[in-house]
Amino acid sequence: MDETRPLDETQQAAATDRAPEPLRVLIVFYSRFGTIRELAGQVGEGAMRVPGTAIDLLEVGDAPCPELQGGATDEAARDRRTALLDRVARADALAIGGPAYFGGPASALKRFFEDLAVASSATLDRSRPWHHYLFRDKPGAAFVSSATPHGGNEQALHALLTMMMHLGMLAVTPGQRGPILEQGAAPYGATAITGPEGHRGLSEEEASEARDLGQRLATVGGWLRAGRAQETERLRAATAVRARGFDPSA
Ligand SMILES: Cc1cc2nc3c(=O)[nH]c(=O)nc-3n(C[C@H](O)[C@H](O)[C@H](O)COP(=O)(O)O)c2cc1C
Repeated sequence: MDETRPLDETQQAAATDRAPEPLRVLIVFYSRFGTIRELAGQVGEGAMRVPGTAIDLLEVGDAPCPELQGGATDEAARDRRTALLDRVARADALAIGGPAYFGGPASALKRFFEDLAVASSATLDRSRPWHHYLFRDKPGAAFVSSATPHGGNEQALHALLTMMMHLGMLAVTPGQRGPILEQGAAPYGATAITGPEGHRGLSEEEASEARDLGQRLATVGGWLRAGRAQETERLRAATAVRARGFDPSA
């Protein structure tokens, strides 16, 4: 095909109709017994309610993520990390979920982010080992589970939201919903109670909260992405006007 020739009408129409880049929602979760895995699925389902959304589920294991571990050579380690770092960097929004262990998020989940933040360079800079650019300005939402209603759900949500804020992310929460004194859901994220046996299964209310959170995250993610593009264009135009200077005859 001759790249220099202008597009004919049919080609122009096809280019205009091309599907827009999907809004990427990355769902990072750790689940030992399956409840959080189910919740992650519901968050994803909710995000998919927003047209043009693509979800990516990233499950963190018990062992340190192999992609983020050192290698025989710096070069080998860097190559192994690149795909995972790209996966996070390309996400427009992140949902992060894990069980509450002893009043905070399970360490496997926390460790993944600690490893990820320091892994963007194969050679660790000891004075500044974290790399916030992977996360900065991305909207993020949290979801957790615990065995009992007062087993640390809210603290775990707060700890995940604090981590996101520390990384420069923008916290997306469900907020208090009505009727205000009858709504049992947490205002800070989606939650599930697993019960003493640890496998009660999600109630319809818990599943629905998770879906609503996913939908809200994708909605806000879409606003941010569109708004950023529009604002960049506005600033570009404003800068061009300023560069031309004021013309009183215009
Ligand atoms: C090491 C450990 C610590 C836990 N600590 C708590 C706790 O402090 N409060 C609580 O309600 N449940 C606690 N649990 C129960 C977990 O929160 C529960 O198993 C989890 O939410 C289930 O999620 P999963 O099915 O995705 O693994 C703990 C479980 C483990 C294994």
